[in-house]
Amino acid sequence: MSTPLSEATVAVVRATVPALAAHGHAVTTAMYRRLFRDEHIAALFNHANQGGDNAQAHALAGAILAYARNIDDLGALSAALERIAQKHVGYHILPEHYPFVARALLGAIEDVLGDAATPQVLAAWGEAYWLLADLLKQREAELRGELAHAVGGWSGWREFVVAGKRIENAAADAPIASFELRPADGGAVIAHRPGQYLTLRYPVPGQGRIKRNYSISCGPNREAYRITVKREAHGHGGSRHLHDAMAIGERIELTPPAGDFFLPDAPPRPVVLLSGGVGLTPMVSMLEAIAARHPRLQAHYVHGTADGASHVMAAHVQALARAHGAIHVSTFYAQPGAGDALGRSHQREGLIDAEWLRANVPLFESDVYLCGPRPFLRALVPALARAGVADERVHYEFFGPSDERLAA
Ligand SMILES: Cc1cc2nc3c(=O)[nH]c(=O)nc-3n(C[C@H](O)[C@H](O)[C@H](O)COP(=O)(O)OP(=O)(O)OC[C@H]3O[C@@H](n4cnc5c(N)ncnc54)[C@H](O)[C@@H]3O)c2cc1C
Ligand code: HEM
Repeated sequence: MSTPLSEATVAVVRATVPALAAHGHAVTTAMYRRLFRDEHIAALFNHANQGGDNAQAHALAGAILAYARNIDDLGALSAALERIAQKHVGYHILPEHYPFVARALLGAIEDVLGDAATPQVLAAWGEAYWLLADLLKQREAELRGELAHAVGGWSGWREFVVAGKRIENAAADAPIASFELRPADGGAVIAHRPGQYLTLRYPVPGQGRIKRNYSISCGPNREAYRITVKREAHGHGGSRHLHDAMAIGERIELTPPAGDFFLPDAPPRPVVLLSGGVGLTPMVSMLEAIAARHPRLQAHYVHGTADGASHVMAAHVQALARAHGAIHVSTFYAQPGAGDALGRSHQREGLIDAEWLRANVPLFESDVYLCGPRPFLRALVPALARAGVADERVHYEFFGPSDERLAA
């Protein structure tokens, strides 16, 4: 794709790549400091992602660097831009929010680069920012329009009621619960694409209204969504609150389903679904969709978890596989418990690895979908590439801001 930026602007932006690579994270941290002085802008974010390892700052730094490297070939960024646009629509980011980021970003570049941030550098980055911002705004407007006009569609935050709640496992230290969410207005919902997530907004005492993403764990339908949440004992409390305080009848707000990780309407080839731990949620949505709509699709589902106590929805997945006939299920337990029996509760011990996959699933004829914790993805995504699975056949979701993917 050609860029409408002038050659001079491209040259200036390109020339700042080394300085940004050295200071990229500092620029983004300074940017967030400036941005969050505006309370209504700060309220748009998920603050659990701003602290600790500052993953959100890394994600934006990664996007800025990738952008600077590809300033004359924006086509190379299209997958990253689609993911960001989907995330922004989930967080209900609107065109009027973009000038706040522009001001904060340019101010931060000035703060960090000092004398190197000449008026020429700032002008070039301003132009470049608005080119990227315009691409995002355009795609986000398109997505919002599609979602608002779909059957059961809406825009922004809509009130839902917890219509069902179910504890899925016996592990008292890490319970996993499913919540059925129905619109409070009694209307229909958008049939999501299997694999997509919701953005939830709900008040937590002492933290105001917080936001969290949860993958939808049921197949598409027009009536309700299901999410399946692991209780994180030591986090910021978003999942604890859902487990401990979100009873049947409680209200919660949702934006429409979002995300670029989904099973297409007409899968062109067999699928291999790989999940680790609670990363099974988008896979269960895909399996329900395959069972309901794709009777001839060959699917291999390989799930890895610690043991039987952390293994949720096993009977449901087996029932889907039996009813469909061409869904093959294999489960790995890393540390089987006393009540677990090889061959009955699980098929393998240890972790899922590429060698086993190569020998047991049609890796090279399939689209591969992965979701799981960071170590799971960090091990398997490169292992699939090394095994020779084409990049465009590998699709993955990570339950947090995706720094690595954007910086790659
Ligand atoms: C697209 C997407 C889909 C998702 N789908 C699901 C899903 O289907 N099911 C699900 O259970 N989750 C899912 N998540 C994760 C979910 O959004 C939350 O991050 C998760 O529930 C934890 O939220 P929390 O507020 O309880 O903890 P957070 O504070 O957000 O903590 C996240 C992690 O960081 C650690 N942590 C954070 N702060 C501290 C601290 N101060 N000290 C020690 N440790 C800390 C926690 O141990 C925890 O593991 C998804 C995330 C994304 C982005
Ligand atoms: C050109 C401008 C922008 C770029 C390049 C950009 C980039 C990004 C990136 C890379 C992510 C992480 C996506 C992921 O998790 O995969 C993200 C998420 C997000 N962005 Fe932006 N963004 C821009 C503008 C904005 C604006 C204007 C706002 C609002 C003021 C905003 C608010 C958010 C929020 C709330 C999230 C989700 C944060 C979270 O997960 O905690 N962004 N953006």
